[in-house]
Amino acid sequence: MASDIQTRIAELSQQLHQHIYHYHVRSEPLITDAEYDRLLQELQTLEAEHPQYRRDDSPTQRVGSDLSGDFSKLRHPAPILSLANAFDESDLLAWEERNLRLLPAGTQLSYILQPKLDGLSIVITYENGSLARAATRGNGEAGDDVTANVRTIRSLPLRIPVEPSSGDAPDRLVVRGEILFHKADFLALNEEQAAAGSPAYINARNTASGSLKQKDSRETAKRKLTAYIYAIVDSAGPPLASEWETVQTLQELGFPVVNDTARFANLAEARKALADWEARRDSLPFEIDGLVLKVDDLALARELGVVGKDPRGAIAYKFPAEEATTTLRGVTIGVGRTGKLTPTAQLEPVFIGGVTVSSASLHNYDQVKALDIRLGDRVIVKRSGDVIPYVVGPMPAARDGSETAITPPARCPFCALPLVQPKGAVDWFCGNASCPERVGRALEFFVSRGAMDIEGMGPQTINALIAARLIDDIADIFTLQGEPLLALEGFAQKKVDNLLKSIDTAKGRSFAQVLTSLGIDGVGSTVAGLLTDNFAAMQELLDTANAIRAAEAEFSRVIRPIMAAAASDDSEAERQIARLQQPTTELVPQLIDASDLNQRLTRRLKALLLSANDIARISQSLANLIGVSRPLHVIEGLGPVLVANIVDFFSDAHNRSVLAKMLAAGVNMRAEEKALAGDGLAGKTIVLTGTLSQPRGVLKSLIEANGGKVTGSVSKRTNYVVAGESPGSKVEKAAGLGVPIIDEDALRMLVNG
Ligand code: IVH
Repeated sequence: MASDIQTRIAELSQQLHQHIYHYHVRSEPLITDAEYDRLLQELQTLEAEHPQYRRDDSPTQRVGSDLSGDFSKLRHPAPILSLANAFDESDLLAWEERNLRLLPAGTQLSYILQPKLDGLSIVITYENGSLARAATRGNGEAGDDVTANVRTIRSLPLRIPVEPSSGDAPDRLVVRGEILFHKADFLALNEEQAAAGSPAYINARNTASGSLKQKDSRETAKRKLTAYIYAIVDSAGPPLASEWETVQTLQELGFPVVNDTARFANLAEARKALADWEARRDSLPFEIDGLVLKVDDLALARELGVVGKDPRGAIAYKFPAEEATTTLRGVTIGVGRTGKLTPTAQLEPVFIGGVTVSSASLHNYDQVKALDIRLGDRVIVKRSGDVIPYVVGPMPAARDGSETAITPPARCPFCALPLVQPKGAVDWFCGNASCPERVGRALEFFVSRGAMDIEGMGPQTINALIAARLIDDIADIFTLQGEPLLALEGFAQKKVDNLLKSIDTAKGRSFAQVLTSLGIDGVGSTVAGLLTDNFAAMQELLDTANAIRAAEAEFSRVIRPIMAAAASDDSEAERQIARLQQPTTELVPQLIDASDLNQRLTRRLKALLLSANDIARISQSLANLIGVSRPLHVIEGLGPVLVANIVDFFSDAHNRSVLAKMLAAGVNMRAEEKALAGDGLAGKTIVLTGTLSQPRGVLKSLIEANGGKVTGSVSKRTNYVVAGESPGSKVEKAAGLGVPIIDEDALRMLVNG
C-alpha cells in the first residue's frame, strides 16, 4: 500500500515535470490546463497525506514560470501569488472551515465573487498617473518586461485617472489583471488566418500569450488583445478596506474591470450564485475557466496569510473542464439530407465535463486540412454547453510519425457515386438525390416535430420503409397503402392504422409548414412564412423559379459570346465578367430599382469596351431577368444567397417531380386566405418609423388586416411612411423620394376609408 502511493507520487511527478517542460520551454503543451490541474491536484493531495514521500524536487515545490530569454526582467514589488483550486462546493465549505479556524472565534466572513478570466496575468505599474512598466507574472518574483507591448492594448489606460473629475491617482500604483482575447476577436483573427491561407490558432490563451511576447510591439498592436484589472498589488495611496472597494476604486480610475463582481454577506449566499454563472458561461464575451471567491475584508485576508504560493483568503472555483485531450482513432462519414458530407471523429473515450465523449464533429474536410488533423493524432476535444463536442485541433508535439493524413473519399460511402465540392464551398456533397442515406435523412427531417410532425414515423420505421422499397422520397409517404405495410415485420394492424391516420392528418398542414419541411438550405419557419405571404400557392413558386432559370440561361446566352470577345487581363474587367456570370446573386439585387439600366451598365462595364449595341442587348436581357425575379427579390428578409437557394430547389427536376406527386396525393400546397377586416390599404406598402403610440406589431397587424404590407426600408415603391416621435433617417429618405409622410391619425383615416 505504502509503496503504491510512493509509486504513484513518482509517476505523477515525472508526468508533471514533462508537461511543465512542454508548456514553458517548448510552448507546445501535450495536455490541457484542466488536465494538468487534475494531475497536480492529485499529487498535492497525496503529498499532503503522506509528507514523508514528498521530494524537494517535486513539481509542487516550485512556482511555475513564464520567463523567456528574449525580455529583460522586472522585479515585482510583492510576490505575484496564485490561487488554490476548489472543484466542487464541498471544497469551498472545507476552505471556509479551515479559514475560520485560523481567525478569532465568531468571525463572520463576507465575500466577493468574480469570473476567473482564462488569460495571462499581467502586473502594471503607474507612476504619477502614467503607465511606466508592465511585466508578466514570470516566476512570481520577477517577470518579463513587456511594457512596450502592453502599451498597445487599447482598453488599458496610459494615464489615470481617465476622467479628471475622479480625483487624483496615487503617485505609485501597481495593479494586476488578465490579458486575453474576446471570443469574437479570436474568431476574427482565425478568419484572417484562413483568408491568408495560414493555419488556425487553436487556443485563445496561448495565442494571447504569444501575441504579448512579440519582440516587435507593432506585431502585438495588430492583435486585438483586451485586458481586465482585478487587484491592487501595491499603492502609495490610502489603504483600502475591502476587495469590493478595490474594484470600485479601479473602476473610478478608469481601469477595465469585470462589471459582474458581486458581494455576498456569507458563503451560503455566494454559493447560490454559482449555478447561474455556470449557465452564463458560454454567453460571456470572454472565456472563463471558473470563478474567484475572495474574502472581502482585506485585513482578515492579510491575517489569513499565504500557504505556498496561494493566499488563503481567495480560491478559484473551477468549472468542470470543457476541453480534454485524447487520441483520434478513426473518422466516420455521414451524409445529410442536402447531401453534405460530415466527417465525425471516433475517439478514445474521454471524460469531459461529466460526460464520456467518444465521437466529435470534425466540421468539414477543409477544416481538417487547415488544422492538419491526422489519424492517430492526440487531439483537443471541446464540449461546451449544448453544442455537439468538436475537435479543436491536434497536438503536433505529441506525434510519433505513425499518424496518417485524412482526406475525403472519392465516392459517396452510401451510393458509391462520385462526390463533388462546389466552387467556393468548404463542404463536399453527394449530388445523388436518390442516395438512400440522403433520402433517409430528408425523410427524418420531413416527418419530425416542427416539420410535418408525422407521429409513428421514427428513424426505424423510415429505414424499414426504405429497405422494403415502399418509399423512395418524401412524396411516397402520402401514397402508402395498408396491405404492403402489414407485410412488414413488426407492423400490426393497429400500428398501421395509426400511421396512416397521422399521414392523412399531415396532408392538411399549412403551406408554410410544408415549405419548412422540405429542408431547403436557409428556409426555416420564418422564411417559409415570408414566402407564403408572397406566394399564394406552390405552383407560383415553381413557375417563378423556372422563369428565373430560363431568364438566366437566356442572359448567359447573350453575354457568352460578348464576354469571349471582351476577355482582357484588366482586373476591373475580370471583376465585372465574374459579376455577369452570377446575375441572380450579383446583378439583380443591385440593379432591381434602376430606372436607367442601360446607362448604369454602360458605366459599370466600361472596362470591357463593349459596343452600344452589345450593352443594349445585355440590358434588355437583364431587364427580363429582373422582371421575373422581382417577386422573390422584393421580399424583405430574403438575401440574394437565399433567393438563389430557393430558385435552385424549385427549379430542380427531381424536386419538381416529388412536389407534383405530393400535390397529386392531396398535400396542401396553398396559403390560407387571410380574412381581411377591410381593404382601405389594399396594395399599399407602408414603412413604420419612430416611436409610435402602440407596439409596432399591433400597427403591422392593423395594416395587414386592411390589405396593406409593412416593409422595413423606404424605396420608391413605398406608398406611405408612418412617422412616430423622433423618427430617423427613413423620413429624410422618404422626403427625398417624394413618398408621403403621415402620422398615426392619418393612417387610421386611410384604414377607415
Ligand atoms: S486573483 C492573490 N482574480 O487565475 C490573488 N486571479 O489560477 C490572485 N485570474 O494567476 C489572483 N481571473 O492570473 C484573481 N478575477 C481574478 C482572476 C484571476 C483570472 C488568474 C490569475 C491567477 C490565476 C490563478
